[in-house]
Amino acid sequence: MSFKTVPTTPIAGQKPGTSGLRKKTAIFRQPGYLENFVQCIFDGTGGATGKTYVLGGDGRFFNADAIHVIIRMAAANGAARLIVGQDGILSTPAVSNLIRKYETDGGIILSASHNPGGEDGDFGVKFNAANGGPAPEKITDAIYARTQKITEFQIAEASACPIDQIGQFSLGATQIDVIDPVQDYEDLMRVLFDFAAIQALFAGGFRICFDAMHAVTGPYAKRILEGTLGAPVGSVINALPSPDFGGGHPDPNPVWAHELVSAMSGPDAPDFGAASDGDGDRNMIMGKDTFVTPSDSLALLTAHAHLAPAYAGNFTGVARSMPTSQAVDRVAERLGIPCFETPTGWKFFGNLLDAGKATLCGEESAGTGSNHIREKDGLWAVLLWLNILARDGRNIVQLQKDHWRSFGRNYYSRHDYEEIPTKAATGLMTALRASLPDLAGKTAGGLIILGADDFSYADPVDGSLTEAQGVRIRFEGGSRVVLRLSGTGTQGATLRVYLERFVPADGDHAMNVQDALSPVLAAAETLAQISHHTGRDKADVIT
Ligand code: G1P
Ligand code: ZN
Repeated sequence: MSFKTVPTTPIAGQKPGTSGLRKKTAIFRQPGYLENFVQCIFDGTGGATGKTYVLGGDGRFFNADAIHVIIRMAAANGAARLIVGQDGILSTPAVSNLIRKYETDGGIILSASHNPGGEDGDFGVKFNAANGGPAPEKITDAIYARTQKITEFQIAEASACPIDQIGQFSLGATQIDVIDPVQDYEDLMRVLFDFAAIQALFAGGFRICFDAMHAVTGPYAKRILEGTLGAPVGSVINALPSPDFGGGHPDPNPVWAHELVSAMSGPDAPDFGAASDGDGDRNMIMGKDTFVTPSDSLALLTAHAHLAPAYAGNFTGVARSMPTSQAVDRVAERLGIPCFETPTGWKFFGNLLDAGKATLCGEESAGTGSNHIREKDGLWAVLLWLNILARDGRNIVQLQKDHWRSFGRNYYSRHDYEEIPTKAATGLMTALRASLPDLAGKTAGGLIILGADDFSYADPVDGSLTEAQGVRIRFEGGSRVVLRLSGTGTQGATLRVYLERFVPADGDHAMNVQDALSPVLAAAETLAQISHHTGRDKADVIT
C-alpha cells in the first residue's frame, strides 16, 4: 500500500448549500469530483493530520464506493483514526452522537437526505464539526474557497477496505474502527427516555406503524422499537435500506409516505404512525386518520416534554426556524421560556444548543431535535412522542385537540413550486422585496397587513448576522405568509410559500386545512404575483 498525490484542477459549483454539497449522483461520480471536495474538507479545516473522524452514510447508491474513497483519502492525509458504520451505514443523528461521545474532530456524512437516490438520483456530502452539528458557515466558506484553488489530492492506493465486518483494521498509520451503527444511538435513547413506560405501553396492546421508507432508519427502528421496546414484529415497514429507496422519495410527508397514510386510515388503524427520511433526521407523526404537522408536533412536544426523564425540570428554551408556524411561541409564552426564531437550516440551532439557551428545536420541514445531539433526529422524535403518550394516557388525536382548545390552532401548509427557472424565481423575490416597505396597512386577500420584512438573524451567541433569509408578511389576527427560495434543490429553483392562519382557542379547529388557508394563499398570490412570475397556477407539492 502506498500513498499518492494526484494533480487536479478546481471544479466549479462545489459550494455547500443548506445541508452540505448536494448534486446529481452522476456528477459526484465524475472523476475527481468527490476527491476534490473531500480534500477541500480536510484542507479547509486545518488538515486531517492526527485527527479522528466519524464516517457513514444513508446507504444510497454510491455510498459504499464513496466510503472507500474517503477512507483511503483520510489515511493518505494522515488521519489518526476513523469510526465507520458497518457497511458504511450511519444515520445523520447517529453520526452527531458518535462525534460528541467519542470527542472526534468531526464527521463526514454521505447523504442527500430526503432527495431520491439511485444512479439518476441525488448524492451528497456533509461535514459536521466537533460539536456534532453541521459545519457553520465560516467552515463551509473556507471549504468552498479551497475548492476554487485546489491543485492536488492525496489518496492511498489500497484495495477494498473490510467495512462489512465489525472490528478494526489499519491503513498506513490510520486506525479504522468499524462499529455497529445502532448500539451507541440506542444507548443514548435509553438515557433520555422512560423505556419501561414505553415497554408497558406496547405490552398493553398499543400499536404503531413506522415507515422507514427503505432508508437508513430501518435497522435503527427494527432494533429499538420491535427489539428493545417490544412493538409487534411488522410494526416497522419498508425496513430494509435500498440504494434507490425502493424507487421512491425518502421524504416523510403525506405525499411520499402514502403507504403510512393509508395504514393510518380506517377503523383498524394503529394508534400511532411515524416515518423518517433518507438519513434519519426527519420525522412525520400521525394519529388515526390524523396528520400532526411538524409545527404542531414541536408545540405539543414542548408542552409535554417534562414527561420524559431527560427534559423533566430541565428545559431552558425552544427554537424554531422562521417559516415554522408560531404554534410553539404560544406554548413558550405560557411556560415562561424564551422562543428563538432562526433562519432555515439546522446549523442555526447549534449555537443556541451549545450555549444552553434552547432545549428543543424544530423546523416545519419535519425536523425536530433537542440538545442531546446537534442534528435533528427522526427516531428520537418518535420515542419522545411514545414516552409522552405512555405517561399521559390520552391518545395523540385527543392530545392535539385538547392542545388547540387550550392554545388555539395555527392552520399551516407549505406550497412548493419546483424546478422553476432560476431567473423567474429571483425575479419574483426581487420584486416582492422591493414592495415590502409600502405594505403595512394595505389589504390583500381580504386580510389587513400588519407588517412585512426580509428576515435577518443576529445570532444571540456569537453576534453573527445572516441576512435575506426570506420574506415575512404578517396579517391581523396572527396569520402570516412567508416566501423564500430553497437552498437544497439540485435543479432550477424551488419557491416555498408557507401559509399560516391562526384560529383562537374558542374558534373552529375542524376546518379543511387548505380551505382555512385560502385567504392567506390569495394574499400571497396578490402580493408576490406567483403565477405571473412562475407561469404556474398552483404548487407542485403541497404539504
Ligand atoms: C430544506 C428545509 C429546511 C431543512 C433543509 C435540510 O431546506 O426547508 O428546513 O433544514 O431542507 O434538511 P430548503 O430546501 O428549504 O433550503
Ligand atoms: Zn434528512
